[in-house]
Amino acid sequence: MFTNLIQANLTTRVLGREIEHYTWTKSTNEDAWKLIESGANEGTLVITDKQTAGKGRAGRIWVSVPGKSLTTSLILTPGINSRLAGWFPLLTGIAIVDALKELGLNTKLKWPNDIMVYGKKLGGILCESKIQGSILEWVIIGIGLNINEHENELPADLKATSFLIESSSSIQRELVLAKILNNLEWLYNTLKENRDTKILLEFWTERCNHVNKKVKFEADNDTQEGIFVGINNDGAAIMNSNGKETIYTSGDIHIETYTKRLAYISKNKL
Ligand code: BTN
Repeated sequence: MFTNLIQANLTTRVLGREIEHYTWTKSTNEDAWKLIESGANEGTLVITDKQTAGKGRAGRIWVSVPGKSLTTSLILTPGINSRLAGWFPLLTGIAIVDALKELGLNTKLKWPNDIMVYGKKLGGILCESKIQGSILEWVIIGIGLNINEHENELPADLKATSFLIESSSSIQRELVLAKILNNLEWLYNTLKENRDTKILLEFWTERCNHVNKKVKFEADNDTQEGIFVGINNDGAAIMNSNGKETIYTSGDIHIETYTKRLAYISKNKL
């Protein structure tokens, strides 16, 4: 990855103005925590060409292909109420969907952190934070996107896809990243300065592929079926199961299993 190519495409004031580039590393999120300890500034970006022990959500591992995937972490110092922490993966998701759209690819969001193309995962976001009292002191936004991978380079069982597979053309990862940061800075400032989550809520809802749809929701070893109503002012998920609404701040949504089941029910006229 070329640091100067990212910066040449940036229109931001803060995000990505300082970049730490590692030829290889275990996890850019872990590097970001170390940089915070040594006094990193807001907006500092960590990038790598080869991540060997990437972290995914819920303790899962994140696999990336050297030289082809986009693996990066961004350091923020929001200084806002910690109840807004749930917005960070959502804002990043909006910024990614819009960046990919500018580059000719339509993607959708799956709550809370997946970038999807018709049921296949193109990328994910892992946000980690440090809270002091009720203040969100540090946020690390880890982004993992499949960009220039061919089908045989992605794990088949995970139903993954890449920018290259979906659009039949490769693209510079630096350009994708710069566009994401350009979009994210405005969204981040909107959250931070105006505390205006109404517009952010609208933006996210427009880009989500399962609002008002039947889904399976998995949280704390419990699975519920119901309608995903949307998100609330804190970015938490609102589920409606048998008329009862439940709010979730974390969890996993499964859409496909449910669609398959519906197909089975209609085929067998149950
Ligand atoms: C997920 O969908 O589970 C989230 C994946 C996030 C992966 C990215 S890759 C860059 C950053 N560094 C990490 O160790 N993880 C995140």
